[in-house]
Amino acid sequence: MTADITIRNARILDGTGAPAFGGDIAITGDRITRVGAAGPATREIDARGLTLSPGFVDTHSHDDGAFLRYPGMEFKVAQGVTSEVSGNCGFSSIPNEPGRKYMPGDIATGGQTNWTDLESYFAACMAAKPAINNIMLVGHNRLRASAVGLDKRAATADELAEMRGEVAKAMEQGACGFSTGLIYEPGRYSDTDEVVALAAECRPFEGIYATHMRNEGDKLLDAVEEALTIAKGAGIGLHISHHKSAGKRNWGRIGQSFARVDRAEAEGQKVTFDVYPYTAGSGPMWQYVNLDHIDPEWSANVMINSCPDDPTLEGKMMPEIAAERGWELTEAVRNVLTSPRGKQVVCTHFIIDEADIETNLRDPRVMIGSDGIPDLKGRPHPRLYGTMPRVLAKYVRERGVLSLEEAVRRMTSLACDRFGLAGRGRIQEGAFADLVLFDPATVQDTATYPDPKQEPVGIDLVVVNGQVAVEKGKHTGAGSGRMLRYRRE
Ligand code: ZN
Ligand code: CU
Repeated sequence: MTADITIRNARILDGTGAPAFGGDIAITGDRITRVGAAGPATREIDARGLTLSPGFVDTHSHDDGAFLRYPGMEFKVAQGVTSEVSGNCGFSSIPNEPGRKYMPGDIATGGQTNWTDLESYFAACMAAKPAINNIMLVGHNRLRASAVGLDKRAATADELAEMRGEVAKAMEQGACGFSTGLIYEPGRYSDTDEVVALAAECRPFEGIYATHMRNEGDKLLDAVEEALTIAKGAGIGLHISHHKSAGKRNWGRIGQSFARVDRAEAEGQKVTFDVYPYTAGSGPMWQYVNLDHIDPEWSANVMINSCPDDPTLEGKMMPEIAAERGWELTEAVRNVLTSPRGKQVVCTHFIIDEADIETNLRDPRVMIGSDGIPDLKGRPHPRLYGTMPRVLAKYVRERGVLSLEEAVRRMTSLACDRFGLAGRGRIQEGAFADLVLFDPATVQDTATYPDPKQEPVGIDLVVVNGQVAVEKGKHTGAGSGRMLRYRRE
């Protein structure tokens, strides 16, 4: 049988962490049908000098709404990302009542909504012909905004029952787990028991508890303890999102966090992590600020990404804005946030130690998650465009923090096994043909803080479900992405 595509003479990294080997692969339909020496094909691609690996998985995305607003997903697929996990940090596009507004600065949906549950959200995404695959977490902030609103109080028994029902429904429909963002409103008004009860709905499906923990700074270790308690109480595995120790006085403490997790694993818990390869975080600014006590140290390290009321602030650091306008630093933060559309402001904050990023990347349980926020009207954090190539360029090639085969394993088989992307993450016969062909010697992120909307270089070809999505920097518009259901092919 003639294959559709053969990719010949590649250095193949199969995604398992094994060393590269030379050879060909053949693709027929949406599958890899041959690994080794391949026969003739309709389309022949010579990959001499290049490395072929399974497509990368962005384990931490906020692209629920982007699948509808930007179905070409150029910022992801150009990085070699063929699948991602959305619905993180408690912000998911489900459950949903069409037209209802759930919370200001909603990073998951960006406003537009005509679905009600995972099934109908997936149908809407498929109708838009997405470039890449998507698997979903159902998010606590969304559930709470839906059932309780933004009130600062415990959920009633009825509200808890409603939220549990929504988690169970999402899991039945194929979500991979339940996410929280316990530093954010309104999830932060929950107690540990509420979260245990919701996470427990994942247990019959062996789903995952993925958390942006209640604290990532002074109380990091308390928050790790709570996360372990929740996963243990629910009887499911734990995934700690964007593992970090935020704020200069806390730098280095992720070593203690790993040590605590090691003890939990020795007692039978299963824990994984993700990290983004940058020293700055990013998110909806109002969520990080208490207007009664604006932290001057934090304020000094903040950059504005999106500011609908004053786009001239985008890309500027807060001290620069304060100096320009003749404001005190904390007054500048207040003025930005209390402007009419202040709750839509997205910011970047420089809060992470470079050495902690390396500590994370050295740990074999740590996957790569961009945490990119797809607000393309402003100047998004460069991680939206640069995460995967930056790991390969800066941390593999330049610093040797981890080997190429190990980095690829984290981005492929480890992520697919953990998040239940069945039949993906390895180059083997019968697997889905999600592939990336790149040059380890030249692959490079080019997105920067001042100029973030830049696609990387050194990635020659990206294949999604057997269709070429990107070739030599050009997006084909194939739209061959799929909505994935946990552990189902
Ligand atoms: Zn988060
Ligand atoms: Cu996030």
